[in-house]
Amino acid sequence: MAMHNPKPQILPSLLGADYGRLAAEILRAQDAGADALHIDIMDPHFVPNLSFGPDIVALARRVAPGFYRNVHLMMSRPDAFLERFAEAGAQTLQIHVEADCDKSAALRRIRSLGMKPAIVLNPETPVSAVEPFLPDADEILVMTVHPGYGGQKFLADCLEKTRWLRKRLPSADIMVDGGVNGETAILAAKAGVNQLVSGSYLFRQSDMAAEIRRLKDALDGLARTAV
Ligand code: DX5
Ligand code: ZN
Repeated sequence: MAMHNPKPQILPSLLGADYGRLAAEILRAQDAGADALHIDIMDPHFVPNLSFGPDIVALARRVAPGFYRNVHLMMSRPDAFLERFAEAGAQTLQIHVEADCDKSAALRRIRSLGMKPAIVLNPETPVSAVEPFLPDADEILVMTVHPGYGGQKFLADCLEKTRWLRKRLPSADIMVDGGVNGETAILAAKAGVNQLVSGSYLFRQSDMAAEIRRLKDALDGLARTAV
């Protein structure tokens, strides 16, 4: 039987943008036909790096109000910042299953604040760890790199998790993030992924629109074939 993944979506990750031209880069991604902007928020307890805060989410809303904001919280205590990100204009809020808080309560709070709740798991985390949170999450992000930096190599073994999730959740949004390029995008789509985050690969394209079209055509083609 042919299985149809939910709508393919491409999400450029702002972490891969030219920070000297952030506003222009946000507009470039929107004009290129991206479905949403992925914004990476890091604290140095959770990952060995720092990145943006809520003000960058607010900047994205000001620059491109109609461009959907998908916000990835790589934070040990995301629960302390849910209101701040809601006020800043986050539309999906992704929290890690490895975070040090009550994840069920945080996911429900995200929904009650009017945002879409999503759960994320790191490469070393077994998929069984997210099972208890699936009823409260509208989207599952399977990391395909160890979070903290852009430009790393795609960890294809993580696709075992997306295959398992797709069998269990035929209509859920299943996303990968890290190391996504023209080739690894196809591997991910064949493994049940419908949402692709891509930072360094998309932002280094001189014609981002052409590359997004190419990725979407490939994903649409796969969605029509049996998985
Ligand atoms: C990694 C971030 C990713 C990052 C991906 O910690 O969560 O969103 O921007 O970058 P690329 O696509 O360059 O691997
Ligand atoms: Zn991310």
